[in-house]
Amino acid sequence: MHHTPRVSPLRLGVNIDHVATIRNARGGRHPDPLRAAHLAIEAGADGITAHLREDRRHISDTDIARLKDELTRPLNFEMAATPEMLAIALRHVPHACCLVPEKREERTTEGGLDVVGGAKHLAPLIADLKAAGIRVSLFIEADVGAIEASAKLGADIVELHTGTYCEQALDNKAAGIAREIARLAEGARRARAAGLEVHAGHGLTYNTVRAIAQIPEVVELNIGHFLIGEAIFGGLSPAIGRMRALMDAARQPALETTR
Ligand code: PXP
Repeated sequence: MHHTPRVSPLRLGVNIDHVATIRNARGGRHPDPLRAAHLAIEAGADGITAHLREDRRHISDTDIARLKDELTRPLNFEMAATPEMLAIALRHVPHACCLVPEKREERTTEGGLDVVGGAKHLAPLIADLKAAGIRVSLFIEADVGAIEASAKLGADIVELHTGTYCEQALDNKAAGIAREIARLAEGARRARAAGLEVHAGHGLTYNTVRAIAQIPEVVELNIGHFLIGEAIFGGLSPAIGRMRALMDAARQPALETTR
């Protein structure tokens, strides 16, 4: 008998930036983000995400080169939309590039990339990345304007910013949580309808992951800070294993097969 899943499986991208933050606190080589990346993959990560910031506060150029050369799973390279970062992306050709705001002018009031105001500036950069065979993701707020602009710009993916939802959850604000989940679910639906692949992330924890994992259009979550923080207490593999299990459990009812 043939069973067809109703929704796609949910991938986990583990962001290893803050392993580098700890390394850089002493300037040496330990802890090594590449070692964390290998461990994350063993523990159930489907891909690795790293953000090369303009000030190199965590991930370094060498880290990106090593990740690209040695990883057995896709590398999602987070970068600002600058000529310097474009050149680095074109040199390494990661599986995907996620364009994120770094400066105040590049971000919307809530924190996503200003794809509407920045469309003229973003268009050629997106075209160059796509021409190199790199999948392009835009880190945006789950707002109609941003979603439509992302589709128009030819992005392959939008990563919906879950930061406001997670802040509301931290403050236990029931109305705010409900409002943000509804906004993200509607955004995911619209983005998918516009032909975009939908990812989500920022600030996700064991407590907040479920509601996002239940949005059927979302096919990938990118999670970093909380996992690296939890790793201090119980190790990286158990932290990732638990997050993976929570994601899978949240997805379960939707994964029921149809005949
Ligand atoms: N997605 C994007 C685009 C990000 O920039 C970040 C943070 O670097 C994340 C996801 C992960 O957020 P967090 O580290 O809070 O889990």
